[in-house]
Amino acid sequence: MSQLEKTILVTGGAGFIGNHVVRRLVKNYPHYKVINLDALTYAGNLENVADVADAPNYSFVKADITELEEVRGVFAVYNPDIIIHLAAESHVDRSIEDPLVFVKTNLMGTATLLQAAKEVWNGQYDGKLFYHVSTDEVYGSLGETGFFVETTPYDPRSPYSASKAGSDHLVRAWGHTYGMPIVLSNCSNNYGPYQFPEKLLPLFINNIKHLKPLPVYGKGINVRDWLYVEDHARAIDVILHEGKHGETYNIGGHNEYRNIDLIHLLCEVMDAKLGRDPGTSAGLITYVTDRAGHDMRYAIDATKLQNELGWTPSLEFREGLEKTIDWYLGNEEWMEQVTSGAYQKYYEKMYGDA
Ligand code: NAD
Ligand code: TYD
Repeated sequence: MSQLEKTILVTGGAGFIGNHVVRRLVKNYPHYKVINLDALTYAGNLENVADVADAPNYSFVKADITELEEVRGVFAVYNPDIIIHLAAESHVDRSIEDPLVFVKTNLMGTATLLQAAKEVWNGQYDGKLFYHVSTDEVYGSLGETGFFVETTPYDPRSPYSASKAGSDHLVRAWGHTYGMPIVLSNCSNNYGPYQFPEKLLPLFINNIKHLKPLPVYGKGINVRDWLYVEDHARAIDVILHEGKHGETYNIGGHNEYRNIDLIHLLCEVMDAKLGRDPGTSAGLITYVTDRAGHDMRYAIDATKLQNELGWTPSLEFREGLEKTIDWYLGNEEWMEQVTSGAYQKYYEKMYGDA
């Protein structure tokens, strides 16, 4: 095998961010073999990777990262050089309703992958890498000022962020104790095509389209830093190839919005796109009970990634938002497929009749 040929196993490649990472690797690196390992939970959907399904350098394997024997089996067959680990339970509201599945998937799943990688690599770490994809939510919640940097102490506050924080610690422990080559990145809120409509933007886009209420938690004053998903996938690509092993890189958009301001912008753009009278969508805004333990503000300082590896976001937010809205409006079948069945029950449970 030439130095350039690598087998890269991506976990969670049928999910939102994973499909963009898989697509980028398959298309830009034809000499890499890309293996997409995914359990296809409610959040995983093979439609998300349908356009690369027949590529000669792509394979899909259905497996559960919490099952050691299954993971061992996959690793024995494919012998990956690099693991990019995205598979996770990822939605804060679900973690409040059902925390144990987050502990199982995010903690046990990550430990299981680390252990299986340690076994298959057997101390031969040349050319190997375990890349763990994480979130800025591990750092906790900010006040009105300041930013998360890589050295900000961990202070997770939801079952989701606590389980992700624990998974980050596990990855560093395998790196430190067993000498496994690792790298981590912690990213802010992503938006873009193929995001499951439980998260703010696709949920609201879908509700606006159907003239349904827009459930804003609390006063809508919580702040998030939004990054277009393809910019995240490009950052992962850069860190994969040029990141220093053992390091952590924060990834963010320098693009903070209060939820209510973001929602008003979304409403304005969608009224124009749908040919509705200005103010139609904003009329759907409905303030609902706040999320339990709702973190007030996340904001990433991505200076390290910019200075050391030259990455910066490529899209202005307005442009990314328009692209995102156009994608959802142009992919009605995708939305109909993912919102049929179990989604209806989820929606009723979380939002009642709203
Ligand atoms: P997602 O929920 O859209 O996708 C998760 C994927 O993991 C799905 O395809 C699902 O089937 C798979 N999966 C879940 N449990 C599994 C298991 N036991 N075995 C195998 N596969 C399993 O999530 P996402 O938004 O794409 O996030 C991907 C990663 O990026 C997560 O680790 C998340 O914590 C992190 N992250 C997400 C964001 C964001 O804004 N979405 C921001 C920063 C970091
Ligand atoms: P979300 O997309 O769930 O991401 P996260 O909680 O990981 O930041 O939510 C983004 C923000 O939008 C967050 O402050 C919660 C808020 N929100 C609502 O106000 N209403 C909703 O229905 C949802 C899903 C989120």
